[in-house]
Amino acid sequence: MSVAVVVGMQWGDEGKGKVIDLLSEEADVIARYAGGHNAGHTIVFDGNQHILHLIPSGIFHSGKLCIIGNGVVIDPAALIHEMDLLKNAGINLDEQLVISDRANIILPYHGTFDKGRENSNNFEKIGTTGRGIGPSYADKIARSGIRACDYRNERYLRKKLESNYQEKNSIFRDLYGKELPSCESMFEDLMGYQETILKYIGDTHVLLRNKIEQKKKVLCEGAQGTMLDVDHGTYPFVTSSNSTSGGASTGLGIPPTQIDRVVGVIKAYTTRVGEGPFPTELHNKDGEKLRKEGHEFGSTTGRPRRCGWFDAVVARYAIRLNGIDAMAITKLDVLDRFDTLKVCTGYKYKGKIFEEMPADLDVLENGEPVYTQFEGWNQSTVKAENFNELPDKAKRYVDGLQSIMGIGFLMISTGPERNQTIHQGTLF
Ligand code: GDP
Ligand code: IMO
Ligand code: MG
Repeated sequence: MSVAVVVGMQWGDEGKGKVIDLLSEEADVIARYAGGHNAGHTIVFDGNQHILHLIPSGIFHSGKLCIIGNGVVIDPAALIHEMDLLKNAGINLDEQLVISDRANIILPYHGTFDKGRENSNNFEKIGTTGRGIGPSYADKIARSGIRACDYRNERYLRKKLESNYQEKNSIFRDLYGKELPSCESMFEDLMGYQETILKYIGDTHVLLRNKIEQKKKVLCEGAQGTMLDVDHGTYPFVTSSNSTSGGASTGLGIPPTQIDRVVGVIKAYTTRVGEGPFPTELHNKDGEKLRKEGHEFGSTTGRPRRCGWFDAVVARYAIRLNGIDAMAITKLDVLDRFDTLKVCTGYKYKGKIFEEMPADLDVLENGEPVYTQFEGWNQSTVKAENFNELPDKAKRYVDGLQSIMGIGFLMISTGPERNQTIHQGTLF
């Protein structure tokens, strides 16, 4: 077995960063396949917290190759900022990082349009990260995007930027009565990143193919979560890429026949940032307690995350959609001081119980969650080194989730640090 995908099973921020950092010990290559710097993946070790937005979560393991795939959209300024932070932390990026020359570049006007749309009364507010993700994927799909490989040909890049600029500036003028910063200044800014981009880009599909042929172990890193997938999530309240496991194939150029395992990362409860339906959301003291105990504030934008009970309809949907065959549960410790815990097993809407995820958002917005209850354990889980050391009622909760979902946990995380983890098997 050589290729595994790691996906978020909810609305992002499940703790993928921590899980991927740990699984990286078993891997040779860690490759990010979708999203951009809207992601925030947190890794904590030796008392220090690191938040990665674009660079794969395996980067802290020296000697492991980290790839940013063609499916990722790259803001060069954000990339270089992150690279500088890592270099200052002593990471040798020259040996470890390769970026796909097919990845699309986020340009300054993408952020402008993203924020403009969010602030306009014409469109439904999504609560995006404002990082230009949607508009840059829109240009990619419209075939007008600028790719990392375009940096190899300055004249071509200028021509592409100029034709894009004309279109964008006229839209901008019509919408806001203002001009974008000049095309020339944008080109100069863009060229300021040329040296770095050219140094790190390569044909990552070929690189991955060779590694797979050599039986090296490849971990494909997902960003966001299943419910934020542009096709399968709570559209339009989603991100603009395929965060589900299929995205690993298109976003890295790894054929589906070569993917052996899919690991789902899921929180012991649910959170969501931004707008959109969230059936188990709690607007009460329990919700506030989850936010406080779980430090539920976005790692990218700092926004408070909406919090609610575990949703097994979401979980089962994620399992089937992604082909998940192993899971990691995170943040069990956040539930350490609750008397009662609830798990949603269906949505009751107009007299009917929905156990499958509906496309129609009205069911999610106005349906009533059907809950199963578990007793809280009111004890710390943080120091447990194996499953047996967990409080009995915590074991019952974890077992209950496993039987509702029909799959076991490879890892149970009881704190942000690497060592606050119960390992229940290996991945490869
Ligand atoms: P990602 O986007 O899926 O990588 O998740 P984030 O990094 O955005 O958010 C997860 C947050 O939970 C981070 O602050 C992690 O340090 C933290 N975290 C991860 N696992 C645990 C855990 O088991 N317990 C606690 N208390 N915090 C955790
Ligand atoms: P990680 O990888 C949580 C959400 C935004 C917004 C929607 C669209 O850290 O799990 P976008 O800027 O992508 O156009 O915003 O998607 N969102 C995330 N929420 N975790 C993320 O990434 C997210 N990336 C995007 O809050 O609701
Ligand atoms: Mg995150």
